[in-house]
Amino acid sequence: MTKALVTGCAGFIGSHLTQRLLNEGVTVIGVDGFLDNYDVAAKLRNLAEIGNHPAFTFHSTMLQTQRWKEWLDGVDVVYHLAALPGVRNSWGKAFTDYVNHNILATQMLLEACLQLPKPPVVVVSSSSSVYGTMQGTFTDESSPLRPVSPYGVTKEAMEQICQVYVKAYGLPVTMLRYFTVYGPRQRPDMAFHRFFRQMMKGEPVVIYGDGKQSRDFTYVADAVQANLLAARHALPGEIFNVGGDREIKLLDVLNIMSGLLNVTPNLSFQSGPAGDSLRTCADIQLAQNRLGYRPQVPLEEGLRLQFVDMRAQAKG
Ligand code: UGA
Repeated sequence: MTKALVTGCAGFIGSHLTQRLLNEGVTVIGVDGFLDNYDVAAKLRNLAEIGNHPAFTFHSTMLQTQRWKEWLDGVDVVYHLAALPGVRNSWGKAFTDYVNHNILATQMLLEACLQLPKPPVVVVSSSSSVYGTMQGTFTDESSPLRPVSPYGVTKEAMEQICQVYVKAYGLPVTMLRYFTVYGPRQRPDMAFHRFFRQMMKGEPVVIYGDGKQSRDFTYVADAVQANLLAARHALPGEIFNVGGDREIKLLDVLNIMSGLLNVTPNLSFQSGPAGDSLRTCADIQLAQNRLGYRPQVPLEEGLRLQFVDMRAQAKG
């Protein structure tokens, strides 16, 4: 691969992926619309280390401006990360924006790829939220899709529209279902970012529900690696779970965090917003077998790296 388009390149996962591609000698076209789901200054900071790289061209605009000809020129792989993320805010009026950014913008990208004589490989970011609350031991890709948030519904629809283009036109699109990604630059609305910030400030740590909900937290570099592997090995229409090293309850994560900061947090339990899955646990065998994906970063190490980054940001 020589040239890639990364949509959502200023976001949490997108900025890490862009950095990795540039480090590997890939020319990157980055597009980001700076949606206001969180502080734009934080998104600009995400680009700080890559903004001036000679192999990086940045377009600060929404996908809806549709400058595809320019963005897709000579591109072998599209990594489509641009989206409106977050499960808990996707209710009410906001749903229109979720539909717009997660479904409609993806369909525009697919149409644009179709117009090219040789369409690029497209790796699309989906989410464990398509499953809802998991049953059984592990969830594999054939498990029923029962989203519990409007956001999860938009991600499911996004997958479906991709599959339609695969089936009708053979467009080489593959989808990755990330399981709650964390690490340096994690979005400020996400749990670990909030917990670290609250603990560093000596504020109560707000836990939605009883803290016994569990997640298969995935370190951001592992999610990035899954993208590269999918671009190389996945077949059109394939979908892969991208999970971390294990499932863990939120309260157990807080124990690890308090050890890192050497503080005993004051926990404030509050009724959780709707849309939250009680359990996620990825069966990653398919990604292991087909792509050679193996999560490399254990939770303890990933948390330490996120904490180091957040402490540096707080000082900076
Ligand atoms: C995350 C992302 O926000 C979604 O964009 C993504 O699609 C999804 O992962 C996924 O796996 O696909 P979520 O699992 O809710 O969603 O991630 P966090 O925001 O880190 O929350 C993890 C848990 O901590 C949730 O149960 C949440 O209710 C809880 N939480 C979050 C708190 O107890 N307190 C908080 O302040 C924030």
